[in-house]
Amino acid sequence: MSRIVYVNGEYLPEEEAKISIFDRGFLMADGVYEVTSVLNGKLIDFDGHAKRLERSLKELSMNAPVTMDELLAIHRELVTKNDLVDGMIYLQVTRGAPGDRDFVFPDPETTPSTLVMFTQSKPGLADSPVAKTGNKVISVEDIRWGRRDIKTVQLLWPSMAKMMAKKAGVDDAWFVEDGFVTEGSSNNAYIVKGNKIITRALSNDILHGITRAAVLRFAAEAQYEVEERNFTIAEAQEADEAFTTSASAFVMPVVEVDGVKIGEGVPGTVAPRLREIYIEEMRKQAI
Ligand code: PDD
Repeated sequence: MSRIVYVNGEYLPEEEAKISIFDRGFLMADGVYEVTSVLNGKLIDFDGHAKRLERSLKELSMNAPVTMDELLAIHRELVTKNDLVDGMIYLQVTRGAPGDRDFVFPDPETTPSTLVMFTQSKPGLADSPVAKTGNKVISVEDIRWGRRDIKTVQLLWPSMAKMMAKKAGVDDAWFVEDGFVTEGSSNNAYIVKGNKIITRALSNDILHGITRAAVLRFAAEAQYEVEERNFTIAEAQEADEAFTTSASAFVMPVVEVDGVKIGEGVPGTVAPRLREIYIEEMRKQAI
């Protein structure tokens, strides 16, 4: 079934939506994106995603194509037009289409930024059966650029890492740099030891996950200890539990790293509990 998508001020059937071949998102990966979940027709943590989008745009000196209020209205309109119950809204802003290829940024006065948005339906998103069995991951060297805190559309290495995982017969990859885990290919990474949740501290090395912020807040409220520091693959393999967080998979247990089972090789108690709290709380706050 054809979706209604949003392109630069217009709602169109997806077959009719068009972007210039000169768009810098296409030619230079000069764009940023956000993925916001929808549960029961409502947006999960829209505010967090809108704030991070503003930050990404500012870091790249890119103009916001619309105000954040307008952005919320477009999200809602897409949910309505597509009868979206559970799923995601993908949003991408690029530096526009200057009409030729040039490394130099175009003048934003004459080249407005491009805004594209579309829905992805995932019925039963919050009841994913994978969350019951957990993910297996392999480690892959992190050779991405040095500003992973900006949510750019440069996703070639994460895509290649996912393909390496697929080839290895597992679900995902965790990136490792200088011996320490940075994050997952499209999520933040955690290990659990006793009552302690360990995850890498925020810096330019990782994306500042919106789900991460909420989960760490809920974890502290639930009396878990949170330690923001580096950890290695060996430490993960020795941990009681491991998990990832992202807007599209919420809290997802990880049960194996590089062929070594974590704990019993099945989800433990902490990650499923955090998943439950996160989904319950975010449903309440959804707009
Ligand atoms: N990915 N780290 C990376 C590299 C990511 O791509 C993502 C999200 C996260 C988690 O961030 P958040 O909790 O704000 O979703 C961490 C999205 C879901 C994606 O690319 O589809």
